[in-house]
Order: sequence, then C-alpha cells, then structure tokens
Amino acid sequence: MLKGKTVVLAVSGSIAAYKIASLASALKKLHANVQVLMTKNAVNFINPITFESLTGNKCLVDTFDRNFQYSVEHVALAKQADVVLVAPASANVIGKIAHGIADDMLTTTVMACKCKKIIAPAMNTNMFDNPILQDNLKILEHYGYEVISPAVGYLACGDTGAGKMPEPELLLQYILREIAYEKDMQGKRVLVTAGPTQESIDPVRFITNHSTGKMGYAIAKMCMLRGAEVTLVSGPTSIAKPEFVHVVDVVTAKEMYEEVTKRAKDQDIIIKAAAVADYRPKSVSSEKMKKKDDDLAIPMERTDDILKFLGEHKKEHQFLCGFSMETENMLENSRKKLEKKHLDMIVANNLKVEGAGFAGDTNVVTIITGQEEVSLGKMTKEETALRILDEILKATN
Ligand code: CTP
Repeated sequence: MLKGKTVVLAVSGSIAAYKIASLASALKKLHANVQVLMTKNAVNFINPITFESLTGNKCLVDTFDRNFQYSVEHVALAKQADVVLVAPASANVIGKIAHGIADDMLTTTVMACKCKKIIAPAMNTNMFDNPILQDNLKILEHYGYEVISPAVGYLACGDTGAGKMPEPELLLQYILREIAYEKDMQGKRVLVTAGPTQESIDPVRFITNHSTGKMGYAIAKMCMLRGAEVTLVSGPTSIAKPEFVHVVDVVTAKEMYEEVTKRAKDQDIIIKAAAVADYRPKSVSSEKMKKKDDDLAIPMERTDDILKFLGEHKKEHQFLCGFSMETENMLENSRKKLEKKHLDMIVANNLKVEGAGFAGDTNVVTIITGQEEVSLGKMTKEETALRILDEILKATN
C-alpha cells in the first residue's frame, strides 16, 4: 500500500516515544520507507537501535553525526519525504518549530520538508492547556501543519486529562489518509450503507440477518483513502468505525431509509452494501411476549425499498450502485434488480461460493453494469472494494 513512499517519523522526548516503535513496524509492513529522527531527549525514552532494527534505516539523532549517509544533507531526507509525523511532539519541539528554531536534526529536517506535516502533541495536561503551547499549535495550523488532538486519560505523570499521544493505530490512519493510494476520488461525495438492520418484535427480540458490515466498511474506508468525502450509514455492527468517515448509526430499515434519502441529493455516488430487511413485524409489542403452548406466527409487512426509491429519484450524473446476494441464478436475478431499481451498477455475489458473502474477510463478486460483467476472483474485502471503485470511476469518467 505504501510502496515507494517515504514516511519521516520525528520522535521527541516524551514517555509515549516507545509507542512509535509499533507505528514504524506497521508502516514497514505496508512497504513504506521509514526514516526515524529523534531529539537527544527522545533517546532517553527509547533506543535508536530499536528503530534501526525495525526500519532497516539509520536512526538520525544529531545534525553533526558524520556517520550516516545524509551527513550535513538533512535536506536530502526532507526532499525524499512524502509525509512527516512529529509524534510524540513535546512542548519544546512544538515551540521550536512554531518559531523557526532549527537547532538539531529533527527541527532542521522538519523545517526543510515541503510535504504534509502532522503533529501529535504529548505532554502533561497543564502544559498542554498552557496558552503559550496552544498559541504555538495555532501558529503551526496557520502554516498548514495538521495537529492531532491528544487523547484524554491517565497520564504517566499521574494526572488525568488531555495530553496522551493517540494510539499508533490512529496515527497510522492519519498517515494513510495522506499518502495511501492515488487521490482519484478527491472532490467526490460518496454515501455508503453497510451492515444489517434489526426489526423489533418486542423489547427483547428482533429479526435480523448475518451481515457483519465488513464489505460496506471496506468500501467506505477505501473511498476515504482515495480522497472522497464519505458518509457511512451503518446498521448495528461490531466492527471499528473507519476514521475520517462521517458515520450515521441506524437500527431499523425505516431509520436507514430516512437517513439515506435525506442525504441522497448531495451525493455523487451512492453504494448500498447494506443488507436491509425486506419485511418487519407489523406491530411491535410494547411488553415482552410470553410463550404459549401453540405455534407462533408473526404478521410481517414490507419495508420501503431504499435503493428502488433512490433509483427513481436519481439526480443527474449521480452514480447508483447496489448489491445483490443470491443463492441461485445470480447473474439473471442481479440483472433484473439492476433494471428494476434503475441502477448504474450492481455487485453480485453467490452465498454458496467458497470465500464469498457474509462474515469472512474475503469476497467473490461479479460487477454488473448495463454494458458489461466483470468477475473478480476471491480476494479480501478491501481489495474487492478497490476494484469496485475502479469500475465506478471507469464508468463515471
Ligand atoms: N435494499 C434496499 N432496501 C430494501 C431492501 C434492499 O435498499 N428494503 C438494497 C440493498 O441494500 C441492496 C439491494 O437492495 O443493495 C439488493 O437487495 P436484495 O435484498 O438482495 O434484493 P431484493 O431487491 O430485496 O430482492 P430479493 O429479496 O428478491 O433477492
């Protein structure tokens, strides 16, 4: 995902410095070239050898260290960088960068970098709240630095408050948003639906399906990483919300209908990966239904077909993509849905094919438009999402 990209991790003196080791490792696994810079103080918290072992690159600490290839040419590294993350960023380093003081390897390199620079402050909560520090962060934002708000929690100094460096996984997401994939969806507004819906029978029970939301969440994440502005309307799922995506939680088909239809007119692309209930109990008992000796039949009524509504009210140049899950006659049934619901594309999968469908991390889909059918082999849901987006862009450009 990050092949050919250089990430500069600038580490300053804070106890959170040790957490950057797992970030460096995660970036390396994604094939990034990872260059770590440390202040002299940071070396007190984590040994440069840790970073050197993880990244395969010399960890740069002092401008006057002659024993590495960049030597006095810190500018060479600055030119190579695709993104710089200063994390943890101490009050001292923030103050120096904000006021143009460049007196070591880290500050000189950061100042020489023209690429996107991201700062993750980490310090005692009173230091963080200090108006001088806050003013310095505003200066950095003014000059285009992105400041990641510190997490709130128990700090190493014993205080509780804002000042914790966010977890490496979140820092990674900031980096990925910046440099993963070509930003070929920049300027596009995309609405994705995902997950199942739940239709209540009584306060205890509901009807749902096996959807986990994985496919829809993968699509939302990939749209975001390719630069789109993404809204994800999600039924109940247990998976983590993708970062930098506006998530709207819903439970029932009716709620999904309302949240989707009121946003639809503002969207360039709508991708409906949710497994929406086609029927719901005609009435919901306000009290728990007690069992009886007889069998039970629950009268059901149709829910609104959200996708059909969207197809009938499609605005000009809007692209509408549905999903179709079948157990037989997949292509024929999916083509019927494409036409009936006025879709531009339908992504079909056969639940009976190994590696396709709910729950797993893979899918096997056929992408159907009015003109063609593209069958993809078994691949991860994230890869599948990327291929679906390629086809959507091909059809819209
Ligand atoms: N869908 C929807 N609203 C519903 C039901 C389905 O928007 N009330 C959408 C799904 O999000 C999916 C597509 O319609 O994108 C296909 O759903 P599916 O249930 O497979 O198809 P149906 O049209 O309901 O047909 P059938 O039940 O006959 O398979």
